[in-house]
Amino acid sequence: MRILAIESSCDETAAAVVEMSDTKREILSSVVASQVDVHALYGGVVPEIASRAHIEAISGVVSRALAEASVTMTDIDTIGVTYAPGLIGSLLVGVSFAKALALAYKKPLVPVNHIKGHAAAAYLSNPELKAPFCALVVSGGHTSLYDVKTPTSFVEIGGTRDDAAGEAFDKVGRVMGLPYPGGAAMDRLAKAGFENGRGNMFHFPSPAVSDDTYDYSFSGLKTAVINQIHTIRQKLGVDDHAPLPDDIREGIAASFTRVVVDGISLKLSRAVRDTGITDLVLAGGVAANSHLRIAVRKTAEELGIRLTIPPLSLCGDNAAMIGAQTYFEALGGNFADSSLNAYASDEQAAFV
Ligand code: KG4
Ligand code: ZN
Repeated sequence: MRILAIESSCDETAAAVVEMSDTKREILSSVVASQVDVHALYGGVVPEIASRAHIEAISGVVSRALAEASVTMTDIDTIGVTYAPGLIGSLLVGVSFAKALALAYKKPLVPVNHIKGHAAAAYLSNPELKAPFCALVVSGGHTSLYDVKTPTSFVEIGGTRDDAAGEAFDKVGRVMGLPYPGGAAMDRLAKAGFENGRGNMFHFPSPAVSDDTYDYSFSGLKTAVINQIHTIRQKLGVDDHAPLPDDIREGIAASFTRVVVDGISLKLSRAVRDTGITDLVLAGGVAANSHLRIAVRKTAEELGIRLTIPPLSLCGDNAAMIGAQTYFEALGGNFADSSLNAYASDEQAAFV
């Protein structure tokens, strides 16, 4: 099945052409137009600006995806599009564009949940991967652990009770004065911090909720780190936006990353032990974090389970992952007509 997939749930306009079958999982093209430079000026995504930027970019991005795959619309069997969750104005741009294409070229249209798409990136990097598996999706909006019973049936068995891990990385990065989004910069600072022995410089609360669930809570941790930064600035007698000394920045990034990574691994191990799952997928933007990748690999090794972590190019938002999930949704007969709507939350979209 040759699939044209479109993704526009947040601040990346993306389109991809993928070829999927029983035996083939191939990315023919994957184009991502990021708006990050525009939003960086404001320190976060501005929804109104994001919608407008999607409108400007989408036509060119889709054309490029087709051209780079050396196909035209006649060669496409199915169109897949992210319809939830995300910024409503952003989602609507992709959904409207996909509906128009489907109507004009008489192609079947498949609605894809963004989070299922993140997990589906793993099919592209591991041709052997088959459901059932356990998927931990860690992104800017989610930190959720799913029992993926079939490729289209996700049951959430654990997740964050407040902020997502990516949100915490970005917020801490912002308070430290790092450019938006802070995740990647925090990763590099933490690496320097660990190398310089600063992983225990500060003691922050674990995001692993201390009960028998597989749940996380990042808001307490986030507040503790922000308070610590304020206290340091007060002691130094500098204002709220003053740059921090390098050793302190490294120490905060490394100490924060350590509790995040340890907390995630702790709940993950418990869930894997309890469910008896033998295959694990780590996905989402935060799955690009080098420290989390190493820790989850170690956890999987200790538990003796197979692990798939997509390459960095498939961790952040992209349309190839949406294409992979489109294939399985289409096999399951999950098609939409021109009444397809976009939904900001999983609840509204009737996720399960
Ligand atoms: O999946 P994604 O691209 O978008 C959402 O669906 O939310 O995830 C974006 C999040 C941002 O919070 C970003 O800072 C974070 O992923 N991120 C990272 C890294 N790269 C991206 N967080 C930690 N370490 C990284 N290397
Ligand atoms: Zn995402």
